[in-house]
Amino acid sequence: MGAVKVGILGLGTVGSGVAEILLKNKESINQRAGSRIELTKVLDKNLDREKVVDIPTGIMTDRSEEVLGNSEIDIIVELIGGVGPAKRFVEQALEAKKHVVTANKELIAKYGDELFALAAKQGVKLHFEASVGGGIPIIKSLQQSLTANRIEKVIGIVNGTTNYILTKMADEGAEFEEVLAEAQQKGYAEADPTSDIEGYDAAYKLTILSAIAFGRAISLDNIYREGITQITQEDITYAQELGYTIKLLGIAKRVNGEVEARVQPAMIPQDHSLAGVKDAFNAVLVKGDAVGELIYYGQGAGSLPTGSAVVADVIDITRNIDYQVTDLNEKRAYKAKTVKSHQELTSKYYIRLQVADKQKGLAVVSKILGDNDIRVSKVIGADQATKSVSLVFLTHSVIEKNLQRALKKIKERTAIKEVSNVIKIEA
Ligand code: NDP
Ligand code: HSE
Repeated sequence: MGAVKVGILGLGTVGSGVAEILLKNKESINQRAGSRIELTKVLDKNLDREKVVDIPTGIMTDRSEEVLGNSEIDIIVELIGGVGPAKRFVEQALEAKKHVVTANKELIAKYGDELFALAAKQGVKLHFEASVGGGIPIIKSLQQSLTANRIEKVIGIVNGTTNYILTKMADEGAEFEEVLAEAQQKGYAEADPTSDIEGYDAAYKLTILSAIAFGRAISLDNIYREGITQITQEDITYAQELGYTIKLLGIAKRVNGEVEARVQPAMIPQDHSLAGVKDAFNAVLVKGDAVGELIYYGQGAGSLPTGSAVVADVIDITRNIDYQVTDLNEKRAYKAKTVKSHQELTSKYYIRLQVADKQKGLAVVSKILGDNDIRVSKVIGADQATKSVSLVFLTHSVIEKNLQRALKKIKERTAIKEVSNVIKIEA
């Protein structure tokens, strides 16, 4: 067996998982790959930090040129994250005709087009299975197993950190900040968790999924994005009372020749196939015209689950290392696609408001909603200990621009103390 040499950039949560799997499952991996896969160099900033995996002596370095400039290394695994040096390192690797595996969704979502073009030019592979859904093999399924289908929609819980937070808030009444800290400690969150809680991470993943599913990329700027920081215990309690669960969803659907793409918290019925996806688990629902609905489910974050997807990419490349095959699919996929304007999207909504007087508040809000073609399916009101009253309206499907116009008018009325939250309902 000839040896295929691998260099890892970044020995953090995922890097450690990748190294552990490569070292622990060495024999079976080599057998499956048809070659000996050898962990040759590992780059990290801080060599003194305590490691969770025993890296053989002489492999660790804090000098990037020892990895990228090593002519024996065939595959570079980029697990630093972000754009910063990661993009430069990936470009250097591709320029040197090294194959690259990455888990970096931000890099692929923002610079996938140029990086795939560079990989194709150099006749090397750029694989990114772990960039979406952690350990779930969703990328290869879309690229290989579902290619007979016209994909109609992709709806996913694709961020483990926010799903962990929402689960703990709903099931245990936990505080947002406290569970975010737990998610960070478990290694689920990004280095800057704003990316998770404000929905950027999910938007990167939705861009990647839709590029493959629809054969066209959606620019990040065209994805409507909301995070989970506005979700309160009160919304979660109302959702439960009304038979819903709140999840941060990435939604991409074909709508009359255009694509609808959004990342936002949504109430889904408690018997919806995504409602039982808890903790850091992810799930992606795909609908193809021939196959119908499929659900991919598994651990969406964490060291070993993500390492599993990364190592599978390394094995895949190793199996085909002697063939100069480039991923034309991915090259073609990264073309622009027309995205439906957010103002024109339709959804059902949950609207929670505070009013001073229940009857007056009901009358004012009902009139404004009616004037803007918004039909109400349910209203509930609860008297609070304070002087204000909480009112919740559930709407039938409304056009976003009508909703925004109505909310503006509602906020102007003195009878309304506050519009506390507006959450999409995904049936
Ligand atoms: P970590 O922050 O845990 O690991 C990154 C490692 O790279 C750290 O040890 C960091 O050191 C090191 N590093 C940063 N900059 C440099 C540099 N210039 N030179 C050398 N080393 C450097 O991140 P994760 O392992 O969590 O994530 C890695 C990638 O995988 C990201 O793209 C992330 O989005 C993606 N991913 C993560 C998942 C997860 O569950 N964590 C799941 C799926 C994808 P230091 O800490 O000192 O900065
Ligand atoms: N921060 C990401 C998440 C890691 O929580 O889903 C997996 O991509």
